[in-house]
Amino acid sequence: MMQEATHCSGFLWPRGPDLYYAGDPPRLTERARIGLLHWTDILWLRRAREIGLPRRLWFADEYPPSAASRVCDRWRDMGRSRPSLLSILGRSGNGKSTAAARLVKNLHDRYGYGPSEMVFLHVPSFCRDLMNPERREAAFERAVGVRFAVCDDLGASYIKSDSFLEAMLEDLIVVRESERRPTLCIANWTARQLEDALGFRIADRLVGGLVEEIHDPSFRRQQAGRRG
Ligand SMILES: Nc1ncnc2c1ncn2[C@@H]1O[C@H](COP(=O)(O)OP(=O)(O)OP(=O)(O)O)[C@@H](O)[C@H]1O
Ligand SMILES: [Mg+2]
Repeated sequence: MMQEATHCSGFLWPRGPDLYYAGDPPRLTERARIGLLHWTDILWLRRAREIGLPRRLWFADEYPPSAASRVCDRWRDMGRSRPSLLSILGRSGNGKSTAAARLVKNLHDRYGYGPSEMVFLHVPSFCRDLMNPERREAAFERAVGVRFAVCDDLGASYIKSDSFLEAMLEDLIVVRESERRPTLCIANWTARQLEDALGFRIADRLVGGLVEEIHDPSFRRQQAGRRG
């Protein structure tokens, strides 16, 4: 639910402590500290939730560009030559999900993409929806049909080969690729591990697109180092 807000000289003051928590990106905490959010931020908060962005990524665009976000920007700007699948691979913590969220925010701000045009899927949660007969159809239809989809943490959940889940994920990637709908896949594997982890058909589609491995060290470790 959105926070209730009152309008005052161009700004909205959200009520309630729920919007703010430790670990937010800089702008949200800074604005929260002085008790001020712009109305465009309020609108974005509602959309971010509907798009499926986890809360910690709502203001991911406030981070400085990383290697992963430069890959996203390059892909976005490729125009007609852009392959429909981009896979960003790499070890944990080097800003892959943040870069994907940054791209989502950018598409929202620049091209007006909203929840009916894009979805941010945390794949393990999406798999749970697929296993639930009441949610399956809506979740799948949306994921396959939106103009832009992020599949974050692909393979973080255990997917048996030849299972129902593998078939659904395969369908998702295959249909999106054949319809040329841009899809950003994020995983912690190396390119070599893709096939073992996802099966030949999905890996084949991903490798046919753009695959970028990020070798940056973990931002999380750097932050922990600074704290400690
Ligand atoms: N560009 C950046 N500059 C500084 N810190 C960043 C940047 N991007 C992300 N971080 C920090 O690094 C943390 C990890 O980022 P993120 O969750 O995007 O990594 P990840 O590669 O998706 O990790 P995992 O593979 O574990 O999901 C974030 O919580 C954030 O604090
Ligand atoms: Mg991540």
